[in-house]
Amino acid sequence: MATTLDQIDLATRAFWAQTPDEIDAAFTVLRRENPVPWSGPAESDLLPPELNTQGFWSLTKYDDIRFASRHPDVFSSAEGITMETFDPLMTQAAQSFIAMDDPRHAELRGITMEAFKPANMKRMGDWVRGHARDLIDEMAPLGEGDFVELVSKQLPGRIFGSFFGLPAGEVHDRTIDAAQRLLSWSDPAATKGKTGLEHFVEAVMELHEIAALLTDQRRAEPGDDLMTWVIQAEFEGQRMDDDEIAAFFVLLAVAANDTTRHASAHAINVFAQHPVQKALLIEDIDGRVEGAVEEVLRWASPLLHMRRTATQDVTIGDAEIKAGDKVVLWYCSGNRDEDAFPDPFSFDILRPKNRHVAFGGGGPHYCLGAALARTMLRSLLSEVYTRIPDITGEPEWLALNFINGIERMPCTWTPPR
Ligand code: HEM
Repeated sequence: MATTLDQIDLATRAFWAQTPDEIDAAFTVLRRENPVPWSGPAESDLLPPELNTQGFWSLTKYDDIRFASRHPDVFSSAEGITMETFDPLMTQAAQSFIAMDDPRHAELRGITMEAFKPANMKRMGDWVRGHARDLIDEMAPLGEGDFVELVSKQLPGRIFGSFFGLPAGEVHDRTIDAAQRLLSWSDPAATKGKTGLEHFVEAVMELHEIAALLTDQRRAEPGDDLMTWVIQAEFEGQRMDDDEIAAFFVLLAVAANDTTRHASAHAINVFAQHPVQKALLIEDIDGRVEGAVEEVLRWASPLLHMRRTATQDVTIGDAEIKAGDKVVLWYCSGNRDEDAFPDPFSFDILRPKNRHVAFGGGGPHYCLGAALARTMLRSLLSEVYTRIPDITGEPEWLALNFINGIERMPCTWTPPR
């Protein structure tokens, strides 16, 4: 499909319902002809048009994305990091410190960093590797099935269960269910007649309830899990209060769930489409899996964007951004920028200096879970390509502007003997 500048409107649902190749082609035109375009209010399944009246600027160039990420004094996160601006209480309850600026952001992130200290990271890494191995053990003998159902959805669910020390049973299932529902506001099968916002608020409130329950339990009986570590963590004499812990619980439910879920499906899809690269990986999995993970992340950009709000007038290229304007950082476009990556449309696991922006463009909000996400993808790729290397499938894409998602991917493979 030929794409011209006047055909591109990042604010519409129709734009995001296109194929990944069409979306990539449109961003290529933008980077070349109008790298900081202005769009009207983004069509939203969360907010009705009367509450969603503000348009947005888009950063499509790698350098601009990194610049905005590293200048939080000019590009603030405090109004929220999704396209929609919610009521401030809702933003706080659902987005935690990802939607705050320093100094409060640094304080709360500092407390959680205590919980993410090396010994705990090692423990979490062991869980992640163990769950990846178990899941491939379970799916490998089947020979066929939907990879998204069998692995992609299961893996973050199980990881989340370990993070929060959820014993198998009702609380575990309720938590995983609410976390899975959180980002499904555009799916009529999930919302069941409710508005997108009602559906979202319900999932947030349910996670807050569960977090309150777990916080009480872990205070009375500390465990060996992230929930306990977060409750006990202290940074410069401060701890998180119960509401802050609950909001962090919701942030993790979003940040660690859908991102890892879709990244794993992308990994299998992209290797099925690039047999030469798959052969390269299989030839030396231990030596090449790290590069493969970075290239999958660059290729997939599982989180398509984060949003900021300008705190002052600022000019980027020809765009005169005014204080209060929304500015959206399109990681998917930065990761295909011809000025940052030689031959950006070639999938190359041996690509040197792969400084992609899948985890953000640097700066204070850089993904807190990047190391764990990398461990998860490394384990998964190693397990899959040593045991069921001929796996192949057909992805069905999710039409969303926030998550680059694969909804279903029926696959076949030869079960190991
Ligand atoms: C492939 C998987 C993942 C991707 C692509 C991803 C991507 C991102 C991106 C783009 C940001 C925002 C960066 C910015 O605004 O500058 C972010 C922030 C964050 N991520 Fe991840 N993420 C992933 C997995 C995880 C996991 C597994 C966890 C938790 C263990 C996690 C926790 C967080 C948190 C807490 C933040 C907010 C950090 C802050 O505001 O200081 N993420 N992630």
